[in-house]
Amino acid sequence: MLRLPSPLEALDDERFAAAGIRMFLKRDDLIHPDFPGNKWRKLKYNLVAARAAGHGTLLTFGGAYSNHLRATAAAGHHFGFATIGVVRGEEHLPLNPILSAAVSFGMTLVYVDRTRYRAKAALADDLHRRFGNFHLIPEGGANLDGVRGCSELIKEIMTPYDVICCSVGTGATLAGLAAALGPGRRAIGFAALKGDFLPGEVRRLQPVPTANWEIEPHHHFGGYARRTPELDAFVEDFRERHGITLNWVYEAKMMHGLLSRTNRFKPGTIVVALIA
Ligand SMILES: Cc1ncc(COP(=O)(O)O)c(C=O)c1O
Repeated sequence: MLRLPSPLEALDDERFAAAGIRMFLKRDDLIHPDFPGNKWRKLKYNLVAARAAGHGTLLTFGGAYSNHLRATAAAGHHFGFATIGVVRGEEHLPLNPILSAAVSFGMTLVYVDRTRYRAKAALADDLHRRFGNFHLIPEGGANLDGVRGCSELIKEIMTPYDVICCSVGTGATLAGLAAALGPGRRAIGFAALKGDFLPGEVRRLQPVPTANWEIEPHHHFGGYARRTPELDAFVEDFRERHGITLNWVYEAKMMHGLLSRTNRFKPGTIVVALIA
């Protein structure tokens, strides 16, 4: 069973209270154990499109630690699609827990070296020759169907608020949130990785461009999936205060960014932070 709408919880934290900020957490991490958060939101309309096109197979891409690969495998298992996961790099045995879960959901894994992986168009042709027809979902579920699913989160929030915040990997979630926000509201994405290409990605993923979002680039802690003792201590402290273990690749960096500069918001601001 999918837990939708996902819960919206007030976060009682003295550091936000001291700055006059009311903080809510949108708990997309609780949607479903096999495809939490934006995984479900990004897959939903991809599954609809695959079914409408009569495709019985989903093919997608990811690194060896990609939760998106695992979630696609789970979605195939639950909704009756065969799944193929194209993994960047070489096979390492035994499989890590993410890939072994993907395989136990029935996913066929194909390993592709980094150079071939980057040449996505040629690779897709190759894969079509090998596997026939399939519905292709890009890495991280970052396509317009994925963005459309993320947009749906906005209409679930019944509480008044001014700003919605999320972590940014591919930019699909931020693109979807900003596209659906009502007037007078804005979205802030906290980059989980280094690189000035993210705003371009968000623009590319927005069906109609909006100017109500920004990306905060200074809280990636060294880059994608990089961690420091400070970040680890922050995750532990947040868990002790609130009983929530933030994902250190993504949401911990966002929450650290929010708490390290609470004065970015005027007193009285109501903020929703997405825990995906
Ligand atoms: C837990 C979590 N939060 C945030 C993100 C970033 O989302 P996006 O890739 O849409 O920017 C991801 C990536 O899929 C994620 O797994």
